[in-house]
Amino acid sequence: MSVLLFVGLGRIGLPQSLVFAQHGHIVYGYDEDPALVGQLNKGQAPFHEPRLDELLNKHVGKGFLPVDDWRPILPRVDTVMIALGTAAPDSASCLSDHGRGDLDGIIEVVAGLLDPAAGASPGLLVVFRTTLPLGSVDIMRAAVEQRHGLVEGRDFHFAFVPERLVEGQAIAEEEALPKIVGTYSDTTFERVAALLGSVGGRVIRVRDPLTAEFCKLTDNAYRSTMFAFSNDLALLASRLGLDAAEIVAAVNADYGRNRVPRPGFVSGYCLTKDPYLLEYRFKEIADERGTQSVWYYGRRANDHLVEHAAERIAVRCAALGIVPQQATVCVLGLSFKEDVDDFRMSHSVLLVERLLQSGFSRLRCYDPALGHSRYAELPGNLAEAGVTAADRLEPAFFKEAQVVVVAHRHQSIVAAAKSARLGELLASASRPCYVFDGWDVWRAAGELAGVFYESLGWAGGEPLGRAGGEALSGR
Ligand SMILES: NC(=O)c1ccc[n+]([C@@H]2O[C@H](COP(=O)([O-])OP(=O)(O)OC[C@H]3O[C@@H](n4cnc5c(N)ncnc54)[C@H](O)[C@@H]3O)[C@@H](O)[C@H]2O)c1
Repeated sequence: MSVLLFVGLGRIGLPQSLVFAQHGHIVYGYDEDPALVGQLNKGQAPFHEPRLDELLNKHVGKGFLPVDDWRPILPRVDTVMIALGTAAPDSASCLSDHGRGDLDGIIEVVAGLLDPAAGASPGLLVVFRTTLPLGSVDIMRAAVEQRHGLVEGRDFHFAFVPERLVEGQAIAEEEALPKIVGTYSDTTFERVAALLGSVGGRVIRVRDPLTAEFCKLTDNAYRSTMFAFSNDLALLASRLGLDAAEIVAAVNADYGRNRVPRPGFVSGYCLTKDPYLLEYRFKEIADERGTQSVWYYGRRANDHLVEHAAERIAVRCAALGIVPQQATVCVLGLSFKEDVDDFRMSHSVLLVERLLQSGFSRLRCYDPALGHSRYAELPGNLAEAGVTAADRLEPAFFKEAQVVVVAHRHQSIVAAAKSARLGELLASASRPCYVFDGWDVWRAAGELAGVFYESLGWAGGEPLGRAGGEALSGR
């Protein structure tokens, strides 16, 4: 049994903490947000995650002990797990940045824990379970050794073990997924392997922390790029009057070499920033050959979808005689992906901002998770701009709507996709009503009188000109 201190009790740190408590370890959890610590001590889950309530109720006050100060308990701890994020680069800053990102905050945290005056037990193991730019653990090692005159491998031990969890399955995945472990020595590896092996999932050793950091960024850079491939196919198919869904289904059918994903918005706290984090260290190669990496362009293609959707909406509204300043726009889905209560770095939120900039002023948003956690509040800038939000999908929400944007495929949105139900929902919407569907789930809306439907990969079967303002098929 280990005595652990988790630093950072967010979407990633909290589920991990509870899994370690569930597997017999004593886990202290520290977060700089005292309100969160107080909430956890009362057994209240700060967000939705399957089994989070169950494990919190079972372990809080026993194997899981949230604290608002790590100092008193540090001497009792043998392992610290860091689950803090770093600043997120965007497409511009990842090219102009000095190549290491902003590590100052995390260095201060780690150097504070290892300050000899703090009384950590000799040989404290610090495991980074977060996403960091390449080379971060090397930088932190040098910073701690220099500042405190300590030696890694003797006075303290560092390991990088990427959390590879997806929101909505974090607890099950922590118990099952392989853990990639990068350390500087065999001794440290043995300690980490014993600890992580105790919660489940096989341990995969890689040569050092840098390799493990590389693995972490590879996971998300790969996923983002794969989705970007489909999204570019969708833009091309709709431009040519073709149907991307038909093409994807045809090429995947009984042909194992293809697993082309369906097109759709790709955003969120990890997929959005991780390809750009990886790009920091691609600079030298990009300078030599004159082009950035494939994951960089993929990410940019995904980011472009916000602009693409805003342009389609503007062009179609002009063609249908819908005046932005007078039109009611209903946006379905605010989270970064389907069925999670997390609106951080969500493309639907960016799209709402972009529509406000284009002159649309009557915006309503629907998300079933609205207000269910601190990650799922309507952003303050949208509320101030008069955007309203609802957590129920019902006919009243669409009253007098002239534009409907399907930004996510939440179960509740997909479940409404039959034409009879769409007929009910859109009965009180205005006519004409334009539907832009980012996930191709509400195609049946195009069967309704006065409703003009277009998806990311299907523009109604007509080739689009450059401006793309031709009349859409509708009834
Ligand atoms: N959310 C995901 O799905 C996901 C998936 C994989 C990886 N990650 C990565 O995990 C890391 C954490 O992400 P998250 O979603 O859990 O973030 P989060 O914002 O939910 O959690 C971070 C927590 O750390 C706390 N915190 C910040 N600075 C602190 C400090 N100095 N001391 C103590 N506590 C501090 C915050 O109060 C917050 O509760 C990020 O690097 C992210 O990229 C997230």
